[in-house]
Amino acid sequence: MSNNAVKIFLLFSMIVSLSGCLGGDEATPPPTESPDLVAMGQQLYTTKQCRACHTIDGTPSTGPSFKGVFGSTVMLSGGDSIVVDEAYLKESILYPDAKVVEGFRQGIMQGFIATLDISDEEADALVAYIKTL
Ligand code: HEC
Repeated sequence: MSNNAVKIFLLFSMIVSLSGCLGGDEATPPPTESPDLVAMGQQLYTTKQCRACHTIDGTPSTGPSFKGVFGSTVMLSGGDSIVVDEAYLKESILYPDAKVVEGFRQGIMQGFIATLDISDEEADALVAYIKTL
């Protein structure tokens, strides 16, 4: 694991334990996402190379940053806009060219993703992780 990945992991663990404290009852899972799924997605972000093109700190890279994308309104090429929900995220992961974000190039992620063989479950995990950012 690279230094950065360790830092991100530690930060993530801190947030998880902190929210456990704030919640008061550590036995109760968070209402939305299973922590296991989020942790799996966080790992996949590195192992499936997403971070080569997507940051989690808001800085655009080859692709848009994942920070705050969930629930935001994204402009698509062609002039449409869309409110980012789980279905859109999942589609964007499995079929990157189905909808292309305005200002970014079509085909870059599509060509890459075909080599990664992302399963349905892995896509769900990545969506769960992106939702936390
Ligand atoms: C080779 C570069 C590259 C890699 C690797 C890559 N992407 Fe992308 N991604 C892009 C580009 C460019 C776009 C914007 C164009 C588009 O919408 O297809 C994008 C768009 C997206 C979007 C839509 C974002 C938005 O703001 O609406 C999601 C979600 C996404 N990628 C998830 C992933 C995940 C998850 C992975 C890892 C499995 C990944 N990407 C790997 C380049 C990449």
